[in-house]
Amino acid sequence: MATLSVSLDRAGRIPLSAQIYGSIRSAIESGQLAAGARLPSWSDLAAQLGVSRGTVRAAYERLIDEQFAIGLGAAGTRVATRPLPATTKWSPDAPPLPDLFYDFSTAPLAFQMGVPSQDAFPFKLWSRIQSRAARRAAAAPVGYPDPRGEPELRQEIASYLAVSRGLRCSPSQVFVTAGFAGALNLAIRGLQMEGRQAWIEDPGFPLTRTALGLAGMTVAGVPVEADGLDIDAGSRIAPEASLAVVTPGQQAPLGMTMSLPRRIALLDWAKQRDGWIIEDDYLGELQLKGRAAPALASLDPDGRVLHIGTFSKTISPALRLGFLVVPLSMARRLGEIAASLAPAPTASVQHAVTEFMHDGHYLRHLRRMKRLYAARQTALVRCLNELASESISVHAAAGMTVVAALPQSVSDTDIASRARLFGLAPVPLSPWYTRKPAQQGLLLGVTNSDERTVAANCSRLLEIVRGHH
Ligand SMILES: Cc1ncc(COP(=O)(O)O)c(C=O)c1O
Repeated sequence: MATLSVSLDRAGRIPLSAQIYGSIRSAIESGQLAAGARLPSWSDLAAQLGVSRGTVRAAYERLIDEQFAIGLGAAGTRVATRPLPATTKWSPDAPPLPDLFYDFSTAPLAFQMGVPSQDAFPFKLWSRIQSRAARRAAAAPVGYPDPRGEPELRQEIASYLAVSRGLRCSPSQVFVTAGFAGALNLAIRGLQMEGRQAWIEDPGFPLTRTALGLAGMTVAGVPVEADGLDIDAGSRIAPEASLAVVTPGQQAPLGMTMSLPRRIALLDWAKQRDGWIIEDDYLGELQLKGRAAPALASLDPDGRVLHIGTFSKTISPALRLGFLVVPLSMARRLGEIAASLAPAPTASVQHAVTEFMHDGHYLRHLRRMKRLYAARQTALVRCLNELASESISVHAAAGMTVVAALPQSVSDTDIASRARLFGLAPVPLSPWYTRKPAQQGLLLGVTNSDERTVAANCSRLLEIVRGHH
């Protein structure tokens, strides 16, 4: 029979049966009460502690319900055989992908890329729309929402794509997702390409490379040229590939638009290979000079292009909202995957974006941001050109960034880490390359590049680069 020491606090607020339960549970978890040991009978323990039998019984029943003990009827109650709890040592919580993202959920630093403008965000309007959306979601029936996304939002997205990206599709082809990343997950699962080869752009978005690798695909980097992906090189490097993930609108990170002949050649390649193309249209029509070319998917006669858009760059990455448009023939299958593995994000965020789009705020906001970012990009390029030297030279204005080339003798990752100490957040270019040696350079975000501080930030950056030379 196990010997038990249970001390009770009779003046306290914790019920006596809970105190008895707690003492015995701790004794079991610490190994002080061994597996198989018999606990005292209800009446013995009740007498020993000066409590009622019912109190002990309630404690034992809870131990039995929680599988710490086994009730054997007339044979009494024994300690269950169970693994000892792991003695886990908690290590500090390291964020994923520290090279690509700096501190999560903090205000953007100077030169930080990939985030919209903080100061020009229509905060008041957006919070009003969000409150309305939250109220509407709260009043909604408690049933399951459509896992493909709210019908009104899918309709708004289909209309937007027709007007702004030249892409005609029905809402049944549109899936609302957790940003580009959520859409890529859905697309990869839908295509079932585990063990197959895929082309990605070289240089290209590092998370796409990681995602395809995680999905069990072999990834081949294919060089990009002034008019986009070098399809002949791709056919030489990875002839067996049957998927290409591309950013034809504005290449990430170098910014070029894929030419029409290249688009046609890529679509031909997909047809010949019986393969697929995932179009990452992450900037959509947010092109700072001239007009954005239509989506690649708008040229697709054979249903081989899966088109992905995101609200991360146009509204905020904090929404975690994007969409996937698939050929009609795949819509049913993708619906099953969305329902079982990747349902659309919470309805209230979807309601808010629906209203933002429906009432014309979205296109107005895009127009305003284009003007603002173009001015900020011009100012940054001018500033860098004034300072340019053999240490740093402006390579190109690309998307919402400026690409600054560095001499091959320096390390862009070292410079980027050093710049962080001064509150600047340029992103190193070399990790975007698959091929080696990678081009050394810095990607400088323009969206938060404030006219008042740009000159000082550029000078400081140049000092840091010179310090490494
Ligand atoms: C090439 C590319 N695609 C997609 C995204 C957006 O991803 P998400 O919608 O998951 O925020 C980014 C963001 O930086 C990007 O650079």
